[in-house]
Amino acid sequence: MKLSTRAQQISPSATLQAAAMARKLKASGRDVISLTVGEPDFFTPKNIQEKAIESIRDGSASFYTPTDGLPALKKAVQEYFHTSYHLNYELKEIMINPGAKFGLYAAFMALLNTGDEVLIPTPYWVSYSEQVKLADGVPIFVEPFDQKSCKVTPADLEKYRTDKTKVLLMNSPANPTGMIYTKEELTALADYCLAHDLFVVTDDIYSQLVYHGAEFASMVNMRPAMKENTLVITGVSKTYAMTGWRIGFAAGPVKLIHAMSEIQSHSTSNPAAVSQYAAIEALNGSQKEAEKMQETFSKRLDAAYDLVVVLPGFSLVKPQGAFYLFPDVTEAMEKLGYTDVEKFVADILEETGVALVAGTGFGSNRHLRLSYAVSQEAFAKAIGLILEFLTLKK
Ligand SMILES: Cc1ncc(COP(=O)(O)O)c(C=O)c1O
Repeated sequence: MKLSTRAQQISPSATLQAAAMARKLKASGRDVISLTVGEPDFFTPKNIQEKAIESIRDGSASFYTPTDGLPALKKAVQEYFHTSYHLNYELKEIMINPGAKFGLYAAFMALLNTGDEVLIPTPYWVSYSEQVKLADGVPIFVEPFDQKSCKVTPADLEKYRTDKTKVLLMNSPANPTGMIYTKEELTALADYCLAHDLFVVTDDIYSQLVYHGAEFASMVNMRPAMKENTLVITGVSKTYAMTGWRIGFAAGPVKLIHAMSEIQSHSTSNPAAVSQYAAIEALNGSQKEAEKMQETFSKRLDAAYDLVVVLPGFSLVKPQGAFYLFPDVTEAMEKLGYTDVEKFVADILEETGVALVAGTGFGSNRHLRLSYAVSQEAFAKAIGLILEFLTLKK
């Protein structure tokens, strides 16, 4: 049996691979602190759990739902976009997906023909490039001129645009950098996209994890014409500690949402009914727990940043969102004779038991990613071990 060319060209997820390596070492009896996690370390709030249990007990979660989601959840999402984005989407412009990840996949499948190019600012979340390839598109990695902020400008995009460029992928707050684009920066990018007929897919999954007065803004809001020129992808995973439930939302032009629903209907049918009932409560119920988690992340960011910014040879701009730090470790590697960040990260794991993700999967051989979705104590202990590694190795 020979696998398809499509299947063979997919790279494994760097983040899932790093997490698996950490688990393997732990299973062998080693003490491991994993800073690889891409999900909140909290349990889903009780009120959400209870509604899910209710829907199981009263039988409503037993059945298929409409492909594009339960009407009550679509209404809650419509209300969410109204209050958070000040946008009025019709219900037919909204769909529910089994995770934001599948929403992105369905979008690329619906948008791309063979050879269509998608501009992906680097560093980027590991799945974008692989999903574009699965849809027979071509990921084009846009290097930001400003290597400190890691934010792209129209001038950066212009260097990579060809007559095959169809889509710009945006992600702010970003994974892995935690950077947030300002309204001014987004407006310039929106104008560029409108002028060159580039459709925008914006992954806003971290929109509610912003800290210290930073303001989330989305490309879709920057010009009235952007509503028809943008697909917004978001969901409940990160905000409500619901990664395991697999619920995402998409909002955009009717034609695209319809095509994505057709793709979803023939691939997954519908997102799990029980998870949709849970998501209704997440959006309509008390926001107290979500706010508490956001505050905890905000405190953890301060503590984590203070510890990492002083590590010898680590260089870092303080992020304002998500729950990752993405320091440039060129200097630290040079001092210790490393040229390969994967080897650097592998040795840190081997010698200290601290698991990190190498920047390679995000498009950088100079960075590594640390997640602060762990307790402050565990994070501080991990950084102490990394400091020992950096100083003793010299
Ligand atoms: C940038 C980004 N987009 C999307 C996702 C996937 O979200 P979901 O759990 O809703 O599929 C993740 C999860 O790590 C992410 O980091």
